[in-house]
Amino acid sequence: MDVERLRLDFPLYSSDERDLIYLDSACQTLRPRQVIEAMNEYYLEYPACGGRSVHRLATKVSIKIEEAREMVAEFIGCSDPSCIVFTKNCTEALNLVAKGYPFQRGSAVLTTDMEHNSNHVPWLQLRELGIVRHRVVRTPPSGLFDLEAYRDAVAADVSMVSMVHTNNVTGTSLPAKEVVEMAHEREALVMLDGAQSAPHQRIDVEELDVDLFTFSAHKMLGPSGVGVLYGKRPVLERIEPLVSGGGAVGMTDYEKVEFLPPPERFEAGLLNYSGIIGTGAAVEYLGAVGMDEVADHEASLNRQATEGLQDIDAISLLGPPDPALRAGLLPFNIRGMTSHDVAMIIDEMAKVQIRSGMHCMHPYFRSRGIDGCARASFYLYNTAEECERFVSAVRAVADTFSS
Ligand code: ALA
Repeated sequence: MDVERLRLDFPLYSSDERDLIYLDSACQTLRPRQVIEAMNEYYLEYPACGGRSVHRLATKVSIKIEEAREMVAEFIGCSDPSCIVFTKNCTEALNLVAKGYPFQRGSAVLTTDMEHNSNHVPWLQLRELGIVRHRVVRTPPSGLFDLEAYRDAVAADVSMVSMVHTNNVTGTSLPAKEVVEMAHEREALVMLDGAQSAPHQRIDVEELDVDLFTFSAHKMLGPSGVGVLYGKRPVLERIEPLVSGGGAVGMTDYEKVEFLPPPERFEAGLLNYSGIIGTGAAVEYLGAVGMDEVADHEASLNRQATEGLQDIDAISLLGPPDPALRAGLLPFNIRGMTSHDVAMIIDEMAKVQIRSGMHCMHPYFRSRGIDGCARASFYLYNTAEECERFVSAVRAVADTFSS
C-alpha cells in the first residue's frame, strides 16, 4: 500500500494543517476527495429527491442511491442489495432492530460487558419495559472473548445475540463465526455491531452467516449521518419500522397502511442522498485499496507504537498487551493524569489528535474503577513517522506530568 500516494487524496494533508497527526479515526475518519466530490456532485448536478418524482434529475438520484446500495452490499459480501438498509448511523440501525423486532415477552437478549452504549442502552430500555430479559457475557481479565462462558449463556430462552464485533476501546474482536454457529444451534439470531470492524477488516456477512450487521459510514471514509443495517431478508421482513411515513409505504387509506418490502419500509422520509452517494464512494475507495492491506497497515503501526511505549513506566495499556489482538487501537493511561489532560496536552505540544474519556462505554470503565483512557487509533493514511512522533509526544507528557 502506497501511503504517501494515498495521502494526496486527503485534503487535510495538503492544507495549512498538514502537520496534524490525526489518530482519532475510530471516532471519525478523514475523507478522501473522491468521497467529497461524489457528495458535491449530488448538490451540483442532480440535487433532487429520489424514489418519488419521475423527472430526469429525480431518476438520476434514484439510480445513484441504488448503485450505492449495490456497492455497500458488495463491500460486505451480501449478494442481495435489498438487504441493505440506509439509516442515520450505526446507533440507529441497532435501535431499529431492538425497537422493531417482534420479541416474545420474556425471551432473552444476550450482549457482552464490552458493548458501546448503542448496543447497551436500547436493551436496557426494553428490559425496563418488560419486553425482553437481558443477560451479559462477562469478559475475563485477558480481555478476550470467553467462548465457553458464551456457550453456557446461549440458553434456550435467548432469541437474539447482539454483540460488538470489534470493541471500540480495546480493539479486541470476538470469534464471529463460532458465535453465530453456537447461537444458530440454539435457534437464536445474531446481530453484530460492526462499527469498528467493517472499516478495518474484510467482512463477508454471508460467509459469517450473521443475521444482522450494522455499521456507520463516518468511521470508514464516508460522511457523517449515514449508517447501514444489513439483514437477512426473512429477518428484515419481521421487523417493524422505527420511523414511518412517505417513501416507506405502498398504499394507505384513512384506516390502514401497507408497508413496502425491505429496504424501503425502513427508509421513510427524504433521505440523506448526498451522504448515501458518498458512502458508496467510500466503500469503493476502500475496496480498491483492499481491506486486507488496510488491516495489515494498521497492525504494523500499532505494533510500532506499542513497542515504542513499552519502556515508559508511567504508562498502562488497556486490553491485551499484544497489539495483534487490538486491531488499530492503542488504549492507554498515564499514571497521575486524566485521559482528557493527556489528549489536550499532546495536541497542544505536538499536534497529535487522539480521543479520551469513556468512549461511550461507561459500564466497562465504571466496573473497573477507571475514569477513562486515552486512545490512539490508526488508519490507512497514517505513517510510521507519525507513529514515531506520537510515541515521542506521549513520552514527553509522561516524563513531564506523570506522578
Ligand atoms: N464510538 C466512537 C468512538 O469510540 C464515537 O470514538
